[in-house]
Amino acid sequence: MCGIVGYVGEEQATPVLLNALKKLEYRGYDSAGIAVLDSGRLTVRKAKGRLRVLEEKIATEVIRGHIGIGHTRWATHGEPSDVNSHPQTDVSGKIAVVHNGIIENYAKLKAWLESNGVEFRSETDTEVIAHLVNFNYNGDLLAAVIETIKKLEGSYAIGVICGNEPDRIVAARKDSPLVIGKGVHENLLASDVPALLEYTQDVYYLDDREIAVLYADRTEFYDDYGARREKQSVRVEWDISAAEKNGFEHFMRKEIHEQPAALANTLRTRIKTYAAKSINLEEIGFSPDWAKAGRVVITACGTAWHAGVVGKYVFEHFARVPVDVDIASEYRYREPILNPHDIFIIISQSGETADTLAAMRMAKTAGAKILAITNVVGSTLAREADLVMYTRAGPEIAVASTKAFTTQLVCLYLLAFQFGLLRGTISPERLETLIRELESLPDKAREILREESGIQRFAARQFNKDKVFFMGRLFDYAISLESALKLKEISYAHSEAFAAGELKHGPIALVDKGTLVVALCTQSALFDKMESNIKQVKARGASVLVLTYRDEERFNGSADAIFRIPRVPDELTPVLSVIPCQLFAYYCAIQRGHDPDKPRNLAKSVTVE
Ligand code: G6P
Repeated sequence: MCGIVGYVGEEQATPVLLNALKKLEYRGYDSAGIAVLDSGRLTVRKAKGRLRVLEEKIATEVIRGHIGIGHTRWATHGEPSDVNSHPQTDVSGKIAVVHNGIIENYAKLKAWLESNGVEFRSETDTEVIAHLVNFNYNGDLLAAVIETIKKLEGSYAIGVICGNEPDRIVAARKDSPLVIGKGVHENLLASDVPALLEYTQDVYYLDDREIAVLYADRTEFYDDYGARREKQSVRVEWDISAAEKNGFEHFMRKEIHEQPAALANTLRTRIKTYAAKSINLEEIGFSPDWAKAGRVVITACGTAWHAGVVGKYVFEHFARVPVDVDIASEYRYREPILNPHDIFIIISQSGETADTLAAMRMAKTAGAKILAITNVVGSTLAREADLVMYTRAGPEIAVASTKAFTTQLVCLYLLAFQFGLLRGTISPERLETLIRELESLPDKAREILREESGIQRFAARQFNKDKVFFMGRLFDYAISLESALKLKEISYAHSEAFAAGELKHGPIALVDKGTLVVALCTQSALFDKMESNIKQVKARGASVLVLTYRDEERFNGSADAIFRIPRVPDELTPVLSVIPCQLFAYYCAIQRGHDPDKPRNLAKSVTVE
C-alpha cells in the first residue's frame, strides 16, 4: 500500500524523506519518488522498483532544499513505472502531489481537464489532483487544495507542495490515514507512525476531511471549508527501537518473539486482582448493556477474520450468544439482515482496511453498536467505532500478521468471558479459573518459543513439499485457516486448510506422497476423529505433522513429527497453537529463499478494494 512522507524544517529534506520512506517499506510498494523545493525550484526524482533504485539514481547529485514530499507507490492505476510513480506534477511544473488511495471519478475529471487542454503524462489518478490544484491555484495553495478536494470522489491522503510557496506543505485526507509529526523547528507528514519516530513521538492524527498545513515552526489545521481548527497532539508510546528489528534478521521473527510481552500488555489493566479476579473493561467504556446483545456479528479481513472465527467459537462456548462471522468484503455487498439488538465486533490490525471500514459503516448506518478491536491508536476504525479495545501489540511491521493476531484473540477472550459473566453462563468462580489461564499464556508462549529450533529443523526437512494441508476441528480448524494463510503468504507453498471432518468430501483426492498434512490436535473430545483422519492421509503416503499438548501421549507413533505446546483448556489453545505454525511458515520461507517481511504481491494495509 502506498506510503506518504513529507518534511519541512531546518534539515536537508532529501535524506529525511528517504529515511522516512524506508520505515514505510513494510506497507508494500513497487516504485518510489521524492519532490524537493529549493528557493521555489522543484526537483522531482522517481524510480520503479525498491527505494534502493531511487537512492542509486540520485546518489551522484545533491538535491538541496528544506521542504519536500516523498512516496512509495503500490500500483493501482497504471503499471509500476518511473512515470507513474509519485510525486505527480502539474503542467506548470510548480506543483507536486503525493497521494494514497483511489480517486473513483478520475476518468471524468481527466476528460474534463483534457477538454481544457491539459496533456496527461501518466496513467495515474493522482495526476488529476496535480492538474486540478494548478487549475484552482490563485496564489494560495491551501485554497487551491480545498477547491480540489471538493471535486474528488473516493479515498485520498495527499501531500502537496508548490514552488510559489516554498515554506509549507498542504495535506488532506479522506478514508486514508495521515499522521503529522510535531518536531522542534521541523514538522513531518507520514502515512504511519513508524516513519516519524526517529524525529518525534508527538503526533497529530488527521481526521477525515481535515486539512493540515505544515510549516517549519507550526502546523495549522482546517476543516474542508477552510475554517481553522484547534488540535491536540498525542504522545506515541512506541519508541524507535520498537519499530526496528532489534537484532532479529526479520521483523516477522522479531514480532513472533514479541508475543509473550504483547499478550501480557493486552491483559494489563484489564484484570482486577483485588478480592476475586475479574475483568475490567471500564477503560474501553464497556457497559453491561452490551452483553444483552441478541446476536454478535464479527466482521474482518484476512488474519483478522481468522481471529473472528476463533471469536465465534469463544463467544458461543462461553457466553452462549449466537455469533455470525463474516468476511468484510462479502458482508458489504450482500444484503445482511441487521437487528437492532445486534452488536458488531470489527477486528482490524491497522484499523484502515477499506472493506472492513465499509462493513463497519454499513452496520453503523443501520444503528448497530460497534466495538472495534485494533492495534492502531487513532486509526479510522478506532475513531468511528462506539467502543475501542486496543490490542496493544506495538507496531507490527512484517506483512504477515503474528502478534496482532494473538493479541486480537486475547481481546476476544476477555470480551467473551465478560459477556459470559453478565449473561450468567460463567460463574464468578469459573471466571477466576479462566482468568488465571489467560494470565498463564505469556509464559506458555515463551516456552513454545524456546523450542524454536525443533520447528526450524522440521521446516528444513519439509520446506519443499508441493502441497501442505492444515486440518483440525473446532478451535483447531480456526487455527488451521490462519496457519495455511501464513505459510502461503510468505513461502508461496500451496497450502490449504480444511475442517478435518471435510477430508472425505474433497481434500483427500489431492493427498499423495508429495503432501504434508499438519494435523492440529488439541480438542480432546475429538481426538478419536482426528486419529482416524491422520490414518487416512498416512495411508495415501502423506507426511504428517501433529500439533498437540506436551503431556498428550495419544498421538505418539502416529505422525512423522510432533510439535508440542503447554496444556491449557482446549478452548484457549488458539493463542498457543498458532505460534509453532507461524514459526514453521517463517522457516519454510527462509529455506525457500524468500524474504518473509516482504512477500510478493501482498500489502500490510489494504486501504483500497
Ligand atoms: C492484509 C494483511 C493481513 C491482514 C489483512 C487485514 O491482507 O496482509 O496481514 O490480516 O490485510 O488487515 P487488518 O489491518 O484489517 O487486520
